[in-house]
Amino acid sequence: MPKIAIVDKIHQDGINLLKNNSKFECEIIEDLSKKNLISKLPAFDGITLRRGKIDAEILEKCKKLKVISRHGVGFDNVDIKYLKKNNIKLLVTSTTTSVSPSEHIMFMILNISKGIDFFDKAVRNGKFGSVMHMTHNNFELLNKKILIIGFGRIGKKLIKRCLGFEMKVYAYDPYVEKNVIESFGGIKIDNLEEGLREADIISLSVPLTKETQNLITLEKMEMMKKNSIIINISRGGIVNEKDLNEALNKKIIYGAGLDVFEKEPPDNNNPLLKNKRIVLSPHAATFTQECLSKMSTETVQNIIDFFEGRLNNNSIVKL
Ligand SMILES: NC(=O)c1ccc[n+]([C@@H]2O[C@H](COP(=O)([O-])OP(=O)(O)OC[C@H]3O[C@@H](n4cnc5c(N)ncnc54)[C@H](O)[C@@H]3O)[C@@H](O)[C@H]2O)c1
Repeated sequence: MPKIAIVDKIHQDGINLLKNNSKFECEIIEDLSKKNLISKLPAFDGITLRRGKIDAEILEKCKKLKVISRHGVGFDNVDIKYLKKNNIKLLVTSTTTSVSPSEHIMFMILNISKGIDFFDKAVRNGKFGSVMHMTHNNFELLNKKILIIGFGRIGKKLIKRCLGFEMKVYAYDPYVEKNVIESFGGIKIDNLEEGLREADIISLSVPLTKETQNLITLEKMEMMKKNSIIINISRGGIVNEKDLNEALNKKIIYGAGLDVFEKEPPDNNNPLLKNKRIVLSPHAATFTQECLSKMSTETVQNIIDFFEGRLNNNSIVKL
């Protein structure tokens, strides 16, 4: 009987799916320290993984391991070289992890465009009548140009939402054909710098790779419009944090929304935490009841399907 480790607690719906399946044994592992993972994981045939880092040193001890099922679509917390070399399959939640992040991007854009924190504080602080002359920075989304960097699952959900707001959508993704982007109502941009110069809003939905790390630096921000904003819900480090802080302080760009950080949680003295021109959230783009329930169910279903030999190919990461 396959033994499955649920590494980091997931929504109860997924846990129940595994607990109620008599063909599997499972254990929840909440202590994500390397010491604990290295001692516990060798006993398991499969792992579901939310937070927690699974490096080669841990994997070397896991001689029975056949599959890791990620709760999410990013897999920068797993040593994929080791998985590839040892033919351990990596699965992701390919069908359930894009709606909430795309809504989160809209939430961040609207939060900035409407200056919502300022409004909220004004009402609470008895300044209801005095805000009307102070909101000149707020802007409509109608006819604004958004550059979606990374036109995968999230990018494709985001474009629909942006078109609903009557925005003009550009997409930069060297790996997606022009006709695919056009079929969604977007315009393909071949040159990132051209897109950065044109856009009012830049949103990143790319994986963290050697190619995307520091994709947006100060030099790139200097190409952007002074009133433009950057939203990054992908992974920390794709937008250089130090450069972003400088660009905001020097008014090179207008604002930013960050759900992800180079170090998570960020250090208390990270200057971005004090920068009033940024909207922040704690890597929470998927934190809705619907998304967390669907992701946990898909994570577990993927592992069940793997052991029962009926896995949907879209869930397998090509390593
Ligand atoms: N904040 C969160 O909670 C959260 C939730 C979901 C996903 N994410 C992150 O968002 C990323 C994207 O998610 P997805 O489901 O859309 O992934 P996806 O794999 O469906 O799409 C990623 C797209 O990025 C493109 N891409 C790769 N390298 C690129 C580059 N250098 N320049 C431009 N485009 C490039 C790929 O061609 C692909 O189309 C994930 O890898 C994950 O790290 C974060």
